[in-house]
Amino acid sequence: MKKVRKAIIPAAGYGTRFLPATKAIPKEMLPIINKPTLQYIVEEAVAAGIEDIIIVTGKQKRAIEDHFDKNFELEYELNKKEKFNLLEKVKQPSELANIHYVRQKEMAGLGDAILTAKSFIGDEPFVVLLGDDIVVNELGDPATKQLVDQYEKTNSSVIGVQTVADNATHRYGIIDPASQDDRLYEVTRFVEKPAPGTAPSNLAILGRYLLTPGIFKHLEKKYVGAGGEIQLTDAIQMLNEEEKVYAYDFKGNRYDVGETDGFIKTTIDFALKSELRDDILAYMKEKIDENEK
Ligand code: UTP
Repeated sequence: MKKVRKAIIPAAGYGTRFLPATKAIPKEMLPIINKPTLQYIVEEAVAAGIEDIIIVTGKQKRAIEDHFDKNFELEYELNKKEKFNLLEKVKQPSELANIHYVRQKEMAGLGDAILTAKSFIGDEPFVVLLGDDIVVNELGDPATKQLVDQYEKTNSSVIGVQTVADNATHRYGIIDPASQDDRLYEVTRFVEKPAPGTAPSNLAILGRYLLTPGIFKHLEKKYVGAGGEIQLTDAIQMLNEEEKVYAYDFKGNRYDVGETDGFIKTTIDFALKSELRDDILAYMKEKIDENEK
């Protein structure tokens, strides 16, 4: 069995839900407290044993490249001023992993973004982490590590899922489960964005995938699916028809930072887990009292 060493992080989307903020910077660079979302995602990949990461970028790739690069001038200044704590924070992103970049020429969908990284992946299993979803599993392994463990048991593709509300199924890829063994499912069908009321289950694909390289020949068909985009979910279903693709209900809190309300809630949650906790709680209490007057 081949070891999982590589990850693709697609970050080329327009991020229209965050305009105008995303006019010049990718939404994956928007910070939760003081760290860009993308850094949380890279850290999760590294914690799963990933050594090489390719980030699929679009027009605004400069900010991403700069963040994961060295900044000699800033490091020199912080060192001179003996701000060693800050120096560590500045150096850390450039020391996480080998990070590579490829540009998606046209925003033709998530499936197309993954296809762009084909030659980097070659003939190996790999993981995909979407920059929209941060998953925190404080009591155990990060989501991606959980998928790698399942791959090592099954030697097959494993797609991360979690339960979503009835009124949210039309926004995601949904699985039609065939059988269940604890948190692992065999899947009859993967369906992207089923019309409201038609979802075969409430188990939604939430931004974490472990895929065998067999996925690429299906992506190459460039089948246009929901929303006029080349959907990764459709290629996964095609792969599922020729080799087993499992779904795994991963443990952890998933934060949807791809839209404004999820982004604000994530920021509040992360603040409440940080040294800002008392300050933020007092401030929110003040606001609630004001609101109740
Ligand atoms: P989303 O659909 O959430 O991203 O794609 P988006 O299109 O940027 O968002 P909105 O709807 O316009 O606000 C999920 C992930 O896939 C990437 C995005 O960058 C995001 O991380 N993506 C999507 C690509 O890299 N290329 C694409 O063509 C589409």
